[in-house]
Amino acid sequence: MLIFAIESSHDDTSFALLEDNKPIWMSTISQINIHKKYGGTVPEIASRLHVKNIGILVNELKEKIDITKIDYVAYTKEPGLIGSLHVGYMVANALAIYLNKPILGLNHLEGHFYSAFIEKEVEYPALGLLVSGGHSQLMLYKSKDEYEIIGETQDDAVGEVYDKVARKLSLDFPGGPIIDRIWKENNDIYTDHFTIPKTEKYLNFSFSGIKTNVINLINNQINRKEEINKEKYATEFQNTIVLYLKEHMQEAIRLYNPKSIALVGGVSANFAIRNMFLSLHENVCLPKLEYTTDNAMMIARLAYEKLRK
Ligand code: KG4
Ligand code: ZN
Repeated sequence: MLIFAIESSHDDTSFALLEDNKPIWMSTISQINIHKKYGGTVPEIASRLHVKNIGILVNELKEKIDITKIDYVAYTKEPGLIGSLHVGYMVANALAIYLNKPILGLNHLEGHFYSAFIEKEVEYPALGLLVSGGHSQLMLYKSKDEYEIIGETQDDAVGEVYDKVARKLSLDFPGGPIIDRIWKENNDIYTDHFTIPKTEKYLNFSFSGIKTNVINLINNQINRKEEINKEKYATEFQNTIVLYLKEHMQEAIRLYNPKSIALVGGVSANFAIRNMFLSLHENVCLPKLEYTTDNAMMIARLAYEKLRK
């Protein structure tokens, strides 16, 4: 079964080919350097760039394989920027009509979950922690067709908070990888953490409190004209996130007793969070780094799960 997939929900245009859970090819064009200048994704610019980039990827695809060999066409249907999603859909639909092959419109967040299972089988029930720039949620898959969100952020996403704290510390964008690097160099010196937030429903998250805490402390120091210890703030911020995610996962594991657990999304590239995750369960699934950010291979993998017997 050869699946071709398109992902275009946000600022990455990505094409992938997957054959029976074996990755054949993937190509992704990121727009991050353009949106960076505006401090966030500009939807109108994103749609236009998808149109330009998808043309480049269509040519790459035609060079890579004989497209008549494709059995199924999959694309990201939701959630995402509506103009960007439309570009992916139009191309996927045109290709499916031309090839006379079935088309599947899929959920981006479910795709992230399956990014940890490329070339791997899912053992259900499976628990997934999705942490990215736009989303933070706990997903419980009882079986491939039965999925539930058992906890989600009430405010900011984890990656968003990483980026905002980094900006306050005058670090570059995106801030996540920079804070992670500082953490690696300083975690044996700064072992403290900020207050862990509480939510009415325990498995929900609230990350904005952590962000406000850090930013207020920095503002106070600026007002007192004191020097900001960036290493200390960055390290203790990451200590807080690791501890918070760990406590949530432990509780979710206790409640749902999963056979496998997965950590996915852009923030799942984080060194400390990955290490913490590995200590939680005997069957931990982590995506390869290339599949942590938005990509079409995860959409193809999700399609494969839906289509197989
Ligand atoms: O999934 P993604 O590409 O974002 C969405 O489109 O939603 O993830 C990007 C986010 C950014 O906020 C970035 O700072 C964060 O993932 N990130 C990290 C790391 N690498 C990327 N956060 C913490 N540690 C990292 N190593
Ligand atoms: Zn995503």
